[in-house]
Amino acid sequence: MNSFLSNFPLTRPRRLRKAEWIRKLVQENKVSLDDLILPIFLTYDTKSSLVNEMPNIYRYSVNDAVDIANKAYEVGIKAIALFPEVPHEKKDALGTEALNEENIICRTVREIKKNVNGIGVICDVALDPYTLSGHDGILSDNNIIDNDKTVDVLCKQALINANAGCDIIAPSDMMDGRVIKIREKLDNAKYIDTLIMSYAAKYASSFYDPFRKAISAASNLGTYKKKSYQMDYSNSNEALKEVALDIKEGTDIILIKPGLPFLDILSNVKTTFKIPTFSFQVSGEYAMIIMGINNGIFNKQEIIMETLSCFKRAGADAILTYFALDAAEIIKNG
Ligand code: PBG
Repeated sequence: MNSFLSNFPLTRPRRLRKAEWIRKLVQENKVSLDDLILPIFLTYDTKSSLVNEMPNIYRYSVNDAVDIANKAYEVGIKAIALFPEVPHEKKDALGTEALNEENIICRTVREIKKNVNGIGVICDVALDPYTLSGHDGILSDNNIIDNDKTVDVLCKQALINANAGCDIIAPSDMMDGRVIKIREKLDNAKYIDTLIMSYAAKYASSFYDPFRKAISAASNLGTYKKKSYQMDYSNSNEALKEVALDIKEGTDIILIKPGLPFLDILSNVKTTFKIPTFSFQVSGEYAMIIMGINNGIFNKQEIIMETLSCFKRAGADAILTYFALDAAEIIKNG
């Protein structure tokens, strides 16, 4: 590598950057419509409502969600991921509403599948929207999340989502051993082609705070929050272990999360395992960027395309981003 440096003035890297046409010709990575997944919040209300912490983002009623799914499909987005805000009176200690075939997720999946042909539908598997604690799992008497009891419920949740027509089951709960149990449950019910995208390396992160507020699951987590199951952001090797386990358990796709501050993890995982690897530009990343845009600090198109390109450079095959519709428009307009 150092031999490049000694060649000056023969070697002038700036030649390759001198104009747009040559920059484009030597571009190594590019974000395309084939890379985009749109996360969508859902509400039980018949009217959609704005999420305070995430300007321009709504919790959609079933009908509006179908319209947005249709719009996403028409602009070329390949999949949507659904996240429900559950009313307080439907929450309990066990997250029972997660297993209700008439819950907002199942109803929306059925409607989208009936009305929008050709877009992939992803359902989160985790109990946080449905438990009073806001935790992804069930608390035992001594106040810890009971791994195995939770996994039993997650399997049932995965099955009812598959029954509703979900294409990709996305366990975001970080319980141990859930991927293999979900795979077995799906296969036993003959859903052999339903995909699993496991949130394999998911870090305990402040960047999820706006999401937790958006789905009203933020206030009862306790001081240790989700640290007994989500990973320590100081760790890197541990991500490889988590990913290796999920691959062994049969996941089809790996998800790394959060996004931008964890691109080193994404890159490391993609280089090591070489399997489909997605990442999530999460709610806190969206909030920071959109607030910068709205305050005139960033140019909207430039900041969106730069951040998404960085995901691609780091090795992401696809990206969940609340900017998916904006990005699709920017890409279409060239
Ligand atoms: C819930 C879940 C979270 C996100 C996706 N699924 C939050 C959490 O784990 O607390 C975060 C998404 C975002 O911040 O945009 N299991």
